[in-house]
This record gives sequence, structure tokens and C-alpha cells, in this order.
Amino acid sequence: MKVVTCIAPVNIAVIKYWGKRDEDLILPINDSISATLSMDHMCAKTTIMCSPDFEDSKFWLNGVEQSLESKRLVNCLQEIKRLASAEPSNAEMLRWNIRICSENNFPTAAGLASSAAGYACLVTALANLYGVKTDLSALARRGSGSACRSIYGGWVQWHMGCNPDGSDSIARVIEPSIHWPEMRILVLVVNDARKKYSSTTGMNRSVATSDLIKHRACNVVPKRVTEMREAIKTKDFNKFAEITMKDSNQFHAIALDTHPPCVYMNDTSHAISDMIHAYNEHKGVNKVAYTFDAGPNACLYLLESEVAEVLSLINECFPSTVAKSDYLRGIPLNIEKSSDDL
Ligand code: DP6
Repeated sequence: MKVVTCIAPVNIAVIKYWGKRDEDLILPINDSISATLSMDHMCAKTTIMCSPDFEDSKFWLNGVEQSLESKRLVNCLQEIKRLASAEPSNAEMLRWNIRICSENNFPTAAGLASSAAGYACLVTALANLYGVKTDLSALARRGSGSACRSIYGGWVQWHMGCNPDGSDSIARVIEPSIHWPEMRILVLVVNDARKKYSSTTGMNRSVATSDLIKHRACNVVPKRVTEMREAIKTKDFNKFAEITMKDSNQFHAIALDTHPPCVYMNDTSHAISDMIHAYNEHKGVNKVAYTFDAGPNACLYLLESEVAEVLSLINECFPSTVAKSDYLRGIPLNIEKSSDDL
């Protein structure tokens, strides 16, 4: 029997991925940029076992058995096995059945990037199991687009690429986390229920029905990516915050421009963004940036010097919101345990 356990954190996009040009290969219509969080709060943990004694393969997510027929899971498994088969010594192990056990230590499918951490973790564990040494971001992308960015720490760009086979649609580090060590992220859990429509459903519907999404992909994001890279490089928080908030708002404008609309933010989300604008105005410069994924929960980017004041404001204004402070991850994905002598 061989056993591998891996841990992977979520990433929070500051330039959002929204829309695919190829559903099967998961190829996006625009580049995106994110920061990968630490391993302290929001992580997926996956253990994979393979043994000649298993009569079948099984997969559990948060203790609930899942189908192994999911197209994305099948694609990831097939691709890793194809790469692993190049090594003749893998031949026997590739015939063994596997058991996958995955857990998130934070709400699943609540718009908190659970699939990003989950698939980054799964492909890292699988690659370790079969000794596959390749760029894992392209493999993680086949599970969930945003997962490709969680393969790396620090500030990461997912390049949309232009090859029809997706070979250049990969994630790359812009700057390591140590580049901006004062950067913090506050995750505000407004509601941990599953979202009404998944990101996959929402973005497909946006591509099919929104006019705004075409304008965003062609005319807005390319310029924004250049500006964001520069803001990160020069540690210009004011500019970084402006682009982050504008991009989050444009993504939600597209969600509303979708027919029927996808409403992800709620009244509390809007009240949080109002509060951040009031705070920034009071300070005379952007000190905090909010961003919302496909759900009502807020992620705030801010520097360490602001954390105490902003946390006390949140506790005062939104007492029922659970806030967690986190920092960026600098180290590669963890293989917690790997054993073949069981
Ligand atoms: C709003 O990666 O979950 O979080 O590729 O269909 O699995 P699929 O979508 P997913 O979408 C994430 C969308 C987002 C923005 C982002 O993380 O860039």
C-alpha cells in the first residue's frame, strides 16, 4: 500500500477569473491574479491510498462519499496516470485501485475558493503518489480553474494562454510572499451556506448572456493586469486597493448583467464595502481593499498596521460576522506524509 497526504490553501483573486473559452480543458477568457493564503486557516487536506488489495476506488469529501464519475476528477486522474505511465516502474501501481479522502477546514462551496484548495491538493497528492514531476498548475486547472493558482505561494498570475490544447494556460509566480511581508487578509464569513449557483454555472451563463463580459475580457483586464503587476511590484497599496475593489465590483456587475442574474453579494456584503469606502475616505487614502468571490463573504486586503483598527470596526459594526486574519504563504505545497511501507 502507498499513502500520501497533502495540504493546500485557498487563494483570493484580486483580478477575477470569470468565463471560459473551453469548458473541458478549463481555459479562461482572461488572465487573473491572486494571492495564496497561509496554511493556518483555510486549507484542504487530502489523503490518497492505493493498494493491490482495494477491490474498487472510492472518494470522500468532508466524510460524504462522492461519485468518481465527475468529469473533472476523471480528467485529472487520466492526465496524471498518462504522465505516470511514462515511467515503466509505475506500471503495476497504476493498476491498483485508490481511496481519496478530502476535507476542508472551512465552509465548502460558500464562495470561499474551496474547489481551488481542493483540486490543488488532490493533484499534488496524486502527482506525489505516482512520482509525476511536471508543472502541476496545468493539471490542477483541469479540476477547477482557480485551483491552478493555489499550486504556488505568494502573488500568482494565471496566464490564459492561447494554445488550443491549453498547454500555455498555466500559473506563474509574480512575486513571492516575502516581497510584501506586511500584507494581511481578513476573511469575513457573512454566510457559510452553499451558494445558490456554482461559479461554473454562473460563469457559463455570463459567457452566454452578458455583453459586459466581452468588454471586460478584451478591453479591461489586459490593462488592469499590467497595472496590478506594477502595483504589487512597487508595493503601491493605494493603487493595489483601487484595482482590487474595481475588479470585484466589475465581476459582480457582470454577474448581474447575466440573464437570469447571479446575485452573490447580500445586504451585509454591500454594507461592508460601504464601510471600507468610508474608512478609506476618512484616512484620505486607500488603506483597505475588499473583494468578493461568488458568494456574500468578504475578503479584505490590508497591511498589518491597519489590522487591529479594522478588526475592532468589524466587531463593532458586524458583530455576527466571523473574521479571521491571515497572511500569504511562501513555501511550496506541503506533502505532510508519504509512505509506501504500510
Ligand atoms: C469568482 O475556479 O471555482 O472565485 O473553473 O468552473 O471550477 P471553475 O470555477 P472556479 O471559479 C472561481 C471564480 C472566482 C474568481 C477567481 O477565483 O478568480
